[in-house]
Amino acid sequence: ETSELVALCATDDIEQGGIRRGTLPDGHAVAIYNVDGEYFVTDDICSHGEASLSEDGMLEGHQVECSWHFGRFDVRTGEACAMPCEKALRTWPVRIEDGRVFVDAGEGNA
Ligand code: FES
Repeated sequence: ETSELVALCATDDIEQGGIRRGTLPDGHAVAIYNVDGEYFVTDDICSHGEASLSEDGMLEGHQVECSWHFGRFDVRTGEACAMPCEKALRTWPVRIEDGRVFVDAGEGNA
């Protein structure tokens, strides 16, 4: 696996409990979450429908709720935790450096 660090945004761009959309170099949309100062990155598009979690999602602790049909995911693992979501989201390892949020785009779980 090759490691490819990609800067997505500044840590200050996302308030605590907030979600922001980012884009990987290949154009893939991701959602960036700030959970009490810890950052996590998953697919932006809900695995149930076409909802954008950065636009239509609500963070509650470590879970994001999709407002379309109220499915939920754990943003740490991408695991689906409430129906109708069953398929996990992809996640990417996050690194914080110089006040910026980076992901390793080469290391996303499939
Ligand atoms: Fe997200 Fe249905 S589109 S729960």
